Amino acid sequence: MRPLAPGSAVWQRLQQLADAGEGRDLPKLFRADADREQRYTRSAAGLRLDFSRQRITDVVFAELLRLADVIELRERIEQMWRGDRINTTEDRAVLHVALRQASGYAIGGPAIEAMVLQERERVLRFADAIRASGEFDDVINIGIGGSDLGPKLIVAALGQQLKAGPAVHFVSNVDGCALVALLERVDPKRTLFIVCSKTFTTQETMSNAELAREWLASRCGEGAIASQFVAVSVNDRAMDRFGIATDRRFRMWDWVGGRFSLWSSVGLAAAIALGSAGFRRLLAGACELDQHFRETPPASNLPFLMAVLGVWNTQFQARHSLAVLPYSERLALLPSFLQQLEMESNGKSVTGNGERVEWSTAPVIWGGSGNDAQHSYYQALHQGTVSAALDFILVKESPCGRPALQRLANANAAAQIEAFTMGNPSDDAQRRHEGSRPSSVILMNALTPESVGALIALYEHKVLVQSLIWGVNAFDQFGVELGKRLCSGFASGELQPVSTRLLSSVIE
Ligand code: F6P
Repeated sequence: MRPLAPGSAVWQRLQQLADAGEGRDLPKLFRADADREQRYTRSAAGLRLDFSRQRITDVVFAELLRLADVIELRERIEQMWRGDRINTTEDRAVLHVALRQASGYAIGGPAIEAMVLQERERVLRFADAIRASGEFDDVINIGIGGSDLGPKLIVAALGQQLKAGPAVHFVSNVDGCALVALLERVDPKRTLFIVCSKTFTTQETMSNAELAREWLASRCGEGAIASQFVAVSVNDRAMDRFGIATDRRFRMWDWVGGRFSLWSSVGLAAAIALGSAGFRRLLAGACELDQHFRETPPASNLPFLMAVLGVWNTQFQARHSLAVLPYSERLALLPSFLQQLEMESNGKSVTGNGERVEWSTAPVIWGGSGNDAQHSYYQALHQGTVSAALDFILVKESPCGRPALQRLANANAAAQIEAFTMGNPSDDAQRRHEGSRPSSVILMNALTPESVGALIALYEHKVLVQSLIWGVNAFDQFGVELGKRLCSGFASGELQPVSTRLLSSVIE
């Protein structure tokens, strides 16, 4: 059995360094070392990671790097790339990296590569055909979780770069209000629906899909279902029952988890918004980051560095939440996407072997537009008892042709980062800022398909490395099954509530 990082000699030395307050006084560290920012900045795949404002010294940094050997990082990466069944609790491979591979990479083996490239071309041909046909004004993606958040983030971040093509919308909530609002304003004859669901059984998605189906059939006849519905799923029998035409079904596979699936057919809505060229650039950006992750030594490996700094914060600096703060309106959905990616992956309390952990695992991921947050919860981050680590995401070039305003956004970010780091040792207790809030800054030169692809892949691989350090399986999600089972059991009468009898009666 591989040794777990918690409990290793490195872990114990990190605890000793934390107990000694190593790295805690950022103002002092910056005043004593003019080169600190430079020394703790790395770049890869068009991204620049500045981790100089993390609570580390060279001694801490050296210990954190040793975690690579403890978790046998190189071998674990090769296992994933080979298609080994590293999702041990579900006995599956984990091959989202295969989805963005270029031809000839044979990630997962030649058979996987062939399937991926073939389905990718089907999806991209269809996306371009939809855009070129002018047949639809609106495309509505019906999905939830990984079948919603990823493509929705891509469209928000990049979709406006391409004026042509239909408007792409996303609905997820089972209460139907988002879909009803859309159906009140779209033309039935000129609307395409994408039912995006790996299982094709998710209650929220299927409820919304049935509502959309009834709406369309009542206005355009049953025949419209085959021409105006497409589906992304592994469940052919369910698609048969729904009436999805066989040539309008796009494949996904059980070796891709929902929260890692935007690169696959799940990204169809994004491919329609971006066009095939734009979507290929997104894949290329992620693929470049993949190569960086696979080939780069720990000291310059961006996903590894973010992972170990995150563990340093949660385990040894008692920072049990991570606020993701993009200073770009078009990345405002990034925190929501990362909530699922990180917390559904590593929000676990037993190791892959079922042993109860005695250490912290995934922190709460939260945040939002950094500029708006300045006028909302920055007070608590500056002077409150909130114990958060901070990830700032900055974009240098304006994505909307307003360079002066982008410079203003970034000037705000820099000032806030300075304040969080250096504080304000005022004699007036009400105006005193402790500073030394740990943060990283990820700088993107511009918001392009490549840079967005690389950014998302960066966080995906960070999640993998942290799961290896914590000894948990990042690729299952049994914790979401109980609620689903109770909901359907209460609805069918097979199960009776115990603590929610009164509540159930008043909300029926
Ligand atoms: O939240 C549980 C979950 O299974 C996610 O992992 C997944 O992304 C989401 O529900 C939607 O699942 P499906 O794509 O099967 O509808």
